[in-house]
Amino acid sequence: MRILIIGQGGREHALAWVLARSPQAPDLFIAPGNPGTAEVGTNVPIAATDVPALLHWAQEHAIDFTVVGPEQPLVAGLVDTFEAAGQRVVGPTAAAARLEGSKAFAKQFMAAHGIPTANHRTFQADEYDAAVAYVRQEGAPIVIKASGLAGGKGAVVCHTLDEALEAVTDMMQEGTFGDAGAEVVVESFMEGEEVSVFVLTDGAHYLLLAPAQDHKRAYDGDEGPNTGGMGAYAPAPLATGRLLTQVCRDVIEPTLGGMVAAGHPYRGILYVGLMVTETGPRVVEYNCRLGDPEAQVVLPLVQSDLVEVFDALSRHRLREVSLIVDPGAAACVVLASGGYPGAYEKGHPIEGLEAAAAVPGATVFQAGTGHDDTGRLCTAGGRVLGVSAQGADLAEALSRAYEAADRITFNGKHARRDIGRRGLERLSATP
Ligand code: GLY
Repeated sequence: MRILIIGQGGREHALAWVLARSPQAPDLFIAPGNPGTAEVGTNVPIAATDVPALLHWAQEHAIDFTVVGPEQPLVAGLVDTFEAAGQRVVGPTAAAARLEGSKAFAKQFMAAHGIPTANHRTFQADEYDAAVAYVRQEGAPIVIKASGLAGGKGAVVCHTLDEALEAVTDMMQEGTFGDAGAEVVVESFMEGEEVSVFVLTDGAHYLLLAPAQDHKRAYDGDEGPNTGGMGAYAPAPLATGRLLTQVCRDVIEPTLGGMVAAGHPYRGILYVGLMVTETGPRVVEYNCRLGDPEAQVVLPLVQSDLVEVFDALSRHRLREVSLIVDPGAAACVVLASGGYPGAYEKGHPIEGLEAAAAVPGATVFQAGTGHDDTGRLCTAGGRVLGVSAQGADLAEALSRAYEAADRITFNGKHARRDIGRRGLERLSATP
């Protein structure tokens, strides 16, 4: 079996690592990959967004199926191009990926299918005055979202009216997010706790990965600027069996059914970001891919052969396989470059990876890493490493992840120290 993985972050390293564990011993190729993925497969120097070159390479190298990590190539139509050429892919078509690519489309879709979410209004590029008037009328707290892809930074939760007006102006007048922010969605603020649910689906059948919780803010106590995610853990105790049953019935099944009815069956990985409110779970956002760093906890917990599962998914035969998830827990602590998500330095040598990997249950996933002129591993991005660990329960997974994370050093290393705290508090409060 020959599998191409597209992307270059910690999520793609986790995908490659878990596929490499398969008893089928697949040949793995990662485009473009990173120094971590090169340890479990072969990196291919083609950018994740260069769809024609990726297709040509996949055809030339007899790839059985391709797994797409990031959202940009999906929204740009990679799957449409590959499938038209007879290539199998784990990922949604461009029309289905609009659930992430257009927040305006997603909100309209949820309204049409009775899927619980925050009340909203959408404003087109030429409706700035109307957007301002609406925000003034609604007041704060309120959420302003760029409709298009904005690298995870396009949703601004505003606690004052001034912040909300500034966000609307930044997006619609200043072009902070380019075309992605020309159209904005203004949403009511939802009170509650967030949880992420990941679904593998061929459009008709679906399987659930472990529910996870991300930590979006840069600093402890959910302070500081939004990041791509500073750590994650799974399963999130917030997502009880009862809650997941409700999510399947009220969100996942209407979403998959609605996409079939719209003529665009959703196939691939669907990430549903939910707010668990007093009145039940409500959708915050859909994403057309795995989360990062959530992938670094939900994938290691998969006990089934993920090659078999992805192969079946890409043949639209998911009903033929099942998914066994480890009953334990996993946690991931992101080690970031000092200053991230603002300006940061690159090129600092990284030490201690072997010592970290020697911690029982620990795996270090690489993201923003590179090699210097002498071949030493060094920092090359904002989120440098995702240090994950599995354990019998959340407390053990977290203590192992932190023990491993503390064995790694590089100049400017920054990590949150409170990953998983909410989960531990919830577990200790549960009789
Ligand atoms: N960790 C959030 C995301 O991947 O969108």
